[in-house]
Amino acid sequence: MAAPSRLLIRGGRVVNDDFSEVADVLVEDGVVRALGHDLLPPGGAPAGLRVLDAAGKLVLPGGIDTHTHMQFPFMGSRSIDDFHQGTKKGGSLIEAFETWRSWADPKVCCDYSLHVAVTWWSDQVKEEMKILVQDKGVNSFKMFMAYKDLYMVTDLELYEAFSRCKEIGAIAQVHAENGDLIAEGAKKMLALGITGPEGHELCRPEAVEAEATLRAITIASAVNCPLYIVHVMSKSAAKVIADARRDGKVVYGEPIAASLGTDGTHYWNKEWHHAAHHVMGPPLRPDPSTPDFLMNLLANDDLTTTGTDNCTFNTCQKALGKDDFTKIPNGVNGVEDRMSVIWEKGVHSGKMDENRFVAVTSTNAAKIFNLYPRKGRIAVGSDADIVIWDPKGTRTISAKTHHQAVNFNIFEGMVCHGVPLVTISRGKVVYEAGVFSVTAGDGKFIPRKPFAEYIYKRIKQRDRTCTPTPVERAPYKGEVATLKSRV
Ligand code: URP
Ligand code: ZN
Ligand code: ZN
Ligand code: ZN
Repeated sequence: MAAPSRLLIRGGRVVNDDFSEVADVLVEDGVVRALGHDLLPPGGAPAGLRVLDAAGKLVLPGGIDTHTHMQFPFMGSRSIDDFHQGTKKGGSLIEAFETWRSWADPKVCCDYSLHVAVTWWSDQVKEEMKILVQDKGVNSFKMFMAYKDLYMVTDLELYEAFSRCKEIGAIAQVHAENGDLIAEGAKKMLALGITGPEGHELCRPEAVEAEATLRAITIASAVNCPLYIVHVMSKSAAKVIADARRDGKVVYGEPIAASLGTDGTHYWNKEWHHAAHHVMGPPLRPDPSTPDFLMNLLANDDLTTTGTDNCTFNTCQKALGKDDFTKIPNGVNGVEDRMSVIWEKGVHSGKMDENRFVAVTSTNAAKIFNLYPRKGRIAVGSDADIVIWDPKGTRTISAKTHHQAVNFNIFEGMVCHGVPLVTISRGKVVYEAGVFSVTAGDGKFIPRKPFAEYIYKRIKQRDRTCTPTPVERAPYKGEVATLKSRV
């Protein structure tokens, strides 16, 4: 029997980023058709209408994970949770985009979009960025300041790429770490005989991340380009972003489930595989006050969105670096646990309320990447991506019970308040009572338009009013020294 095409979510507390209210939500043909009180007809549910009781529960806009790497060929291996691939130096951005789409489209079970990496610079890249924006629905480009000799670009290339993003109405994203310092630091650690995962953090301490963060902000500000710093991992980098925002810079910081939920003390664990499974770049930080600090900044709008950087490798893949930490494929899990970790550490802890939770897990991402209000809000006309959330329920995270392909979970044993009861993806119930009903290919690529108002209104106005003009003065008429030619 076909699933009913209409859903009525009854009596839940509908939470948007600005407001919560107890209301019914009527979903038809994948979108929210009505929001209000007593939407159930007096005679009860007609045929074809399924009623989901949400009394005592929260009804949230579906989460938007801003940063994942599925199926990513990286450091000699391929991330085990599938879908995704990187661009090579010299490769066509458009071909890369089409390749990723061909991998993702048959597999995705929820809507998705793509950021495109710029890992080298040429007139071709510049032209292809425009084509991707105008014809392919891309409005964000990511540049790496790390991964020397692989993805790393120079400051001048950043300048060019940021200038281009600004011209075509895209947002520039950066992986902010000083790739030269990492390469030298790694040689130093290996020379000291430090070959284990702790070397990964020791060779790239917080200052390496903070320096690159400030450099990226300085370059973006010089060309008035909006900037998005992916995976904020340290207190030092977060402070740089907070200061820049207070200086009026258009910059956004994305902590991830890992940096908000765990820390880098694990690199010193005596079990090699345990330590190696935490290796990612920038690294988790050994200062155990880091997650709380980042969560406070996220609560206060110094940081804006949350991703996961989900890029998972099984133990045997991590073991490629068993004798040399520089060969451990970088990346951790997060995509399944992000919402629960942020609820537990953010809302249950009292740092943020339910509305801020929605802002940082969904709405802000939708606004920055120009998906709002189609995504990121429960409102009439919005896509029916909805989670019925039990704020009092608990679950214990474990690799034994998770649904990811990877055989390790960095949040192992964490008890989280905040449990999804029902997940609805464009009007279809895809998860309920522990059971998934997903169909590969049901998700759709969502094209995104350039010049997102949320970020570009300020940028455009600054262009109008802040562009320097020359001082008008009478020409100098006096004597001019004559330069003597050198003998
Ligand atoms: O270690 C990480 N973060 N792996 C994924 C690639 C990246 O740098 O985002
Ligand atoms: Zn990165
Ligand atoms: Zn541990
Ligand atoms: Zn990443």
